[in-house]
Amino acid sequence: MLRRLHPHQPESFAFTPANQAWAEAQITKYPEGRQASAVIPLLWRAQEQEGWLTRPAIEHVADMLGMAYIRVLEVATFYFMFQLQPVGSVAHVQVCGTLSCMLCGSEDLMKVCREKIADKPHELSADGKFSWEEVECLGACANAPMAQIGKDYYEDLTTERLAEILDEMAAGRVPTPGPQNGRYASEPLENLTSLAEGSEGRAAGNASVALATDIGDTIKRIDGTEVPLVASWQRQDDHEAEGLEDPAEPAPAHDRPADASGVTEQEAPASSAAKPVSADFPAEEPRDAVDGDETPEGGKPVVDEGEAAPIVDEDDETADKAGTADPAAPGGVYNAPKTQKPGGTGEGDKKKPSEE
Ligand code: FES
Repeated sequence: MLRRLHPHQPESFAFTPANQAWAEAQITKYPEGRQASAVIPLLWRAQEQEGWLTRPAIEHVADMLGMAYIRVLEVATFYFMFQLQPVGSVAHVQVCGTLSCMLCGSEDLMKVCREKIADKPHELSADGKFSWEEVECLGACANAPMAQIGKDYYEDLTTERLAEILDEMAAGRVPTPGPQNGRYASEPLENLTSLAEGSEGRAAGNASVALATDIGDTIKRIDGTEVPLVASWQRQDDHEAEGLEDPAEPAPAHDRPADASGVTEQEAPASSAAKPVSADFPAEEPRDAVDGDETPEGGKPVVDEGEAAPIVDEDDETADKAGTADPAAPGGVYNAPKTQKPGGTGEGDKKKPSEE
């Protein structure tokens, strides 16, 4: 599926002050030179704030992280969780269409979406309040069929119940998420058949339902005021400034370079051309020596694919770890370290393949 930026884009994007503070705190998790690691959390927060990822939002995130716009666009277009087109102003409905949900009626749920929202996924409803799409398994298979609406899961759905939920949301109410058939979580419909002792006096909804109702952010556009900003790793900076470093605390990397150069290594240097052994390049002769380039500039000596690496017995701390290539043996077979293992016979502990 080709994913492009939407043809109609807003003029600009800015995080709300609380979201901006949250985004800046995320960046401080990473070492100097690796701020780009925060790209997905920042894009996600931009989407939570606006409902979808606009081009100005992508560029804003790129500017914050010192990244090329194309790099951030690559991330935004790769992950299907990023919405690249406007979504309903009230809610975007994601119906799971994978096996368990499909067997339990997800196609009927999508029929409801087609009738009540729009004929095609990712289209806005006539009043602009809703949009919908089919998604892959959301991990609530024991409560199939289900849909994610906004941030929360509505499980054990029927066509009638989904239609009611959409009507309630259109009227400005947020139905309680979680199982919609009376189940507490994913226990048998008739009730618990084991571990029932702890169910006495439990909260009205399971933990995720309780969290959703406490915070009230199911279909809310997130502005950063929903929960307090938590950046516990930043406390470590304060501790260190006061000489109170606690090794048990998360160690922030803020302002520290990733390595001596501070530059992110995108690719490890190749150590071999990986050509097969041939008459021109016999195994016992280091290929790079033939090329007159035995040691690449600034790197380690090249190890030929056909050259035997020493075999080291990791259990044997006294082992002579400098096994040597035997040019007389086919394929450059090693000479085993001359070490006697307890109960062994010494040199013959590790046989040459030719002896086996
Ligand atoms: S198949 Fe629908 S949640 Fe897993």
